[in-house]
Amino acid sequence: MTAPLIAARAIRKAYRKAGGEVVPLESLDLDVQRGEFLALMGPSGSGKTTLLNLLAGIDQPTAGSLLIAGTDLTRLSRSQLTRWRGDHVGYIFQLYHLLPVLTAWENVELPLLLHAMPAAERARRVSLTLDLVGLADRGDHFPRQLSGGQEQRVAIARALVADPPLLVADEPTGDLDRDSATAILALLRRLVAELGKTIVMVTHDQRAAAAARRAGWSSRGRCRRDARRLQSCRTRGTAGASASAAYRPHRLGRGLRPVPAHRRRGDASWARACDGRRAG
Ligand SMILES: Nc1ncnc2c1ncn2[C@@H]1O[C@H](COP(=O)(O)OP(=O)(O)O)[C@@H](O)[C@H]1O
Ligand SMILES: [Mg+2]
Repeated sequence: MTAPLIAARAIRKAYRKAGGEVVPLESLDLDVQRGEFLALMGPSGSGKTTLLNLLAGIDQPTAGSLLIAGTDLTRLSRSQLTRWRGDHVGYIFQLYHLLPVLTAWENVELPLLLHAMPAAERARRVSLTLDLVGLADRGDHFPRQLSGGQEQRVAIARALVADPPLLVADEPTGDLDRDSATAILALLRRLVAELGKTIVMVTHDQRAAAAARRAGWSSRGRCRRDARRLQSCRTRGTAGASASAAYRPHRLGRGLRPVPAHRRRGDASWARACDGRRAG
């Protein structure tokens, strides 16, 4: 078995506050395999967002080791962590966090501006990624001109455009109606099954958890007493990527073309295949 994409050991995260500290994560162990779609559920305040921020390299653990794609994030400086994040992680938020003054196209382009890349290559990637999320014809729309589901698709495209192996999603369907949520979950599943992405998703929605291959239960008590339970409490999902979902490492240079040749019918049809509503 290959090494997991994420190996967290004895992670502790404490925040200082007047008169003491808050400790959302006491001693967390967690393995996430490459090509896995993991759903984490737990009560409010139990440290879910804290964990995602650690996995995304936005914040660092107070103690413990956090190995992702072979790098121990606890040993990186702030600036190294920022660079690492740009190559390895896409973050999807509940409320999309699109910049309102930028078009869908420009929002998706943003992460690529951190990479040295010719403008034509940037344009190719943005176009391909918008196509992938089913919004090829909405590039010139501003966020206010899009539905919530479409905004979340743009946000997913933004998370995806630099082709990171890991996506973290914090209640990505929490603000959507049922149909839009279903379509977003279908899209996320396809990112795992067809692009080999690894997704760690926090959700309160049982349906969302069922869409993932495994669901974890993270409650403050359990995390504090025995974080290993986070693994043992997983339930089997009803759908999603199979355990053997092939992971293919993607690098910027190779572009977003990870679907095997025998399944590829051109970029446009690949994008259609990734659109839950039109999937056959
Ligand atoms: N930057 C921070 N500074 C101080 N306390 C924080 C910070 N971020 C989170 N916390 C505290 O950590 C706990 C866990 O928060 P969070 O991870 O957001 O929980 P969840 O996402 O499970 O609702 C809460 O008590 C919260 O107030
Ligand atoms: Mg949260």
